[in-house]
Amino acid sequence: MLFPFFVLELALEKYPCYLTTPDGLQCFIRPLQAGDRHAYETFLRLMPDEERLFVEHRFLDTAVFHVWPEKIDFFRHLPLLAFADGKIVADASLHQRAGGWKRHIGLVSVVTHPDYRGRGIVDLLINELVEISRQAGLMRLEAEFNGERDVGILAFQKAGFDELMRLPGYVQDMNALYHDYVLLGMRLKASEELAAAAD
Ligand SMILES: CC(C)(COP(=O)(O)OP(=O)(O)OC[C@H]1O[C@@H](n2cnc3c(N)ncnc32)[C@H](O)[C@@H]1OP(=O)(O)O)[C@@H](O)C(=O)NCCC(=O)NCCS
Repeated sequence: MLFPFFVLELALEKYPCYLTTPDGLQCFIRPLQAGDRHAYETFLRLMPDEERLFVEHRFLDTAVFHVWPEKIDFFRHLPLLAFADGKIVADASLHQRAGGWKRHIGLVSVVTHPDYRGRGIVDLLINELVEISRQAGLMRLEAEFNGERDVGILAFQKAGFDELMRLPGYVQDMNALYHDYVLLGMRLKASEELAAAAD
């Protein structure tokens, strides 16, 4: 069996690449690089207040990372970025656990620039992450939401995720108000299963 880091590197060999949304927006797609720090933080800070309420901790100091790394550990945290018009327009991130009982389950989170929503960018990125995850040997993907994230929930359901759990009033935003917690999940098909389904 191949070493997982090596398998992930193989899955990332296709990047950078261009993908085009249904309305013709050409996006340059590649994983985050160390030199993207300023652009990435600027992008994340564009998130509207009602969305930021749920993720404020991720924005402290240096956005997602406590210390901005020289080299990003894609095995733990893989932000796949879409660039258009000279800026970052979307980020779909895959988080993996190095060990433990969820080591076979990747966690996916997505955010699109407010001016570029509804154009199909996240549809493209989720499909890319599903394929990367499958190639990297993950068995399942999951995505977490507060109950008000209808668009995000729809986008993931369209990509093949199902609702696994909805807990009313379970999570608290940064204003200490309670919201439903929604967990979506997807089982990833191995190559052999995909080949059998195609027959
Ligand atoms: C959720 C989010 C990432 C969607 O990004 P996006 O690039 O606008 O999504 P897409 O244009 O690829 O649309 C994906 C699907 O979402 C739905 N959708 C998108 N915009 C919508 C809108 N304004 N109203 C209703 N549904 C919408 C559609 O089902 C669409 O599928 P379609 O191709 O059949 O129209 C974006 O709204 C966002 O950044 N939200 C804040 C962060 C968040 O909620 N993340 C989810 C938790 S991880």
